[in-house]
Amino acid sequence: MTSRVGKASLRSKIMSAEEAAQFIEDGHNVGMSGFTGAGYPKVVPTALANRIRQQHAAGHQFRIGLWTGASTAPELDGALAETGGVRTRLPYQSDPVTRTMINDGVIDYNDIHLSHLGPLVREGFLGKLDVAVIEVAAITDDGRLIPSSSIGNNKVWLDEAEKVILEVNSWQSLELEGMHDVYEKFALPPYRMPVQMTRPGDRIGQPYLSVDNDKIIGIVETNHPDRNTPFKALDETSQAIAGHFIEFLEHEVRLGRLPKELLPLQSGVGNIANAVLAGLLDSDFEGLTSYTEVIQDGMVDLIDSGKLSVASATAFSLSPDYAERMNDNAQRYRRNIILRPQEISNHPELIRRLGVIACNGLIEADIYGNVNSTHIMGSRMQNGIGGSGDFARNAYISCFVTPSTAKGGAISAIVPFVSHVDHTEHDTSVIVTEQGLADLRGLAPRKRADLIIEKCAHPAYRPALHDYVERAKQVANGQHTPHDLSLAHEWHRRFLVEGTMAH
Ligand code: COA
Repeated sequence: MTSRVGKASLRSKIMSAEEAAQFIEDGHNVGMSGFTGAGYPKVVPTALANRIRQQHAAGHQFRIGLWTGASTAPELDGALAETGGVRTRLPYQSDPVTRTMINDGVIDYNDIHLSHLGPLVREGFLGKLDVAVIEVAAITDDGRLIPSSSIGNNKVWLDEAEKVILEVNSWQSLELEGMHDVYEKFALPPYRMPVQMTRPGDRIGQPYLSVDNDKIIGIVETNHPDRNTPFKALDETSQAIAGHFIEFLEHEVRLGRLPKELLPLQSGVGNIANAVLAGLLDSDFEGLTSYTEVIQDGMVDLIDSGKLSVASATAFSLSPDYAERMNDNAQRYRRNIILRPQEISNHPELIRRLGVIACNGLIEADIYGNVNSTHIMGSRMQNGIGGSGDFARNAYISCFVTPSTAKGGAISAIVPFVSHVDHTEHDTSVIVTEQGLADLRGLAPRKRADLIIEKCAHPAYRPALHDYVERAKQVANGQHTPHDLSLAHEWHRRFLVEGTMAH
């Protein structure tokens, strides 16, 4: 293997993952690269997990704060969580082991908007960042870093960490060079300046990450693929949701409220969001753009079809086949794809200015449009808010998509009152299920309730939802947003006790 460490003076720092892991100590905050299974360090986390286990076996305390871009992969999140050595976790995860330990209270989880973590760290609110562990595709002759398949918070970690460990992964295509756009003018208030971007394809930074080379304490060479899970095959439900959403976009174009090439699309995580992208492939839309967080399979197909001209994101979230396709053709995709720091991909100022059409998944929504994206039955953390709030709050149109039921029909996704709130009714423009689409813009609460029940709820749950509204109107007679608080969470209670929300 020819070394991808271009700068000769850095080659003396090449070492094994085990040696690099020795630099991380109990109590450290560690900022790792990685965003939805792309661009995470592949070997240092496992070596660190072994080190933690050895320390625990010897009777020593060893717990770290683990910060990343977003979710990662079992080799990082799973491996470290299993040791019991993760003290805090920010800002997002979707790992089963981590999820269990968060819910058990073993890991302190700070579930925050993805655009917020970088600024919080720069502002010093979270304490010192001791070590950064960052995967890159290569190091240039002059010591700059060619980023790999995600950027996430890497710029923040490289700027702020006291010491830096690099994993140079030769599985990542060298043709990624030039795809990235690393904005460098971050400043804290009162010195913040407007971010000079008016179109999703604008380049406002550098194609490389830079780091003070004196901070680099170790370089580990690897050759490992990213690990993303394949998306589920499209089914009738996801296709119906995509169909309603696309019909809505066509309707908005007919009314002159959207241009014919639409506005930049944001597509959230999950299978339904990917299905919406697949639906766009069969639509008549042309000249589409995307300003989003992750590039999914559906977006690659849209680029190949010529329908999507620009996709701006912070990471790939591709199934294994598509990741190989990206690696083999990165030079071609570089014309259409820009990867940016998540402080920019999720920047509220830019999302608002560009007029992004946001489309995110949800766990449940209530009859007034409040949305729960994170908690099962009010208490159990699923993944986290991720970037959904960054986009929903600032979008031109903020859509949420979901099947109308879960767990084989035992749960209605439309409930009287959500059991946890991530996005308030004020940030929800449109809700889509396989049953239909409710456009809530401009509607007062009682009208919203009728529309959501009729258009989005499963027919089996509609009568009970209407009953609830009628009771609420009696109890809260003459009030703006009627609720019967004695019944508002009765559906959740019934599911927990009887295993179904059905009446
Ligand atoms: N009540 C209880 N459980 C529910 C439920 C409900 N109303 N709705 C879904 N679930 C369960 C599912 O049964 C499934 O459980 P399982 O893992 O035991 O099978 C789990 O929640 C996930 O549901 P699924 O339908 O597979 O979800 P998805 O892949 O479409 O993702 C979210 C939906 C909400 C979990 C996902 O979109 C998410 O994490 N969103 C928050 C972050 C985000 O939006 N990021 C994007 C910003 S760019």
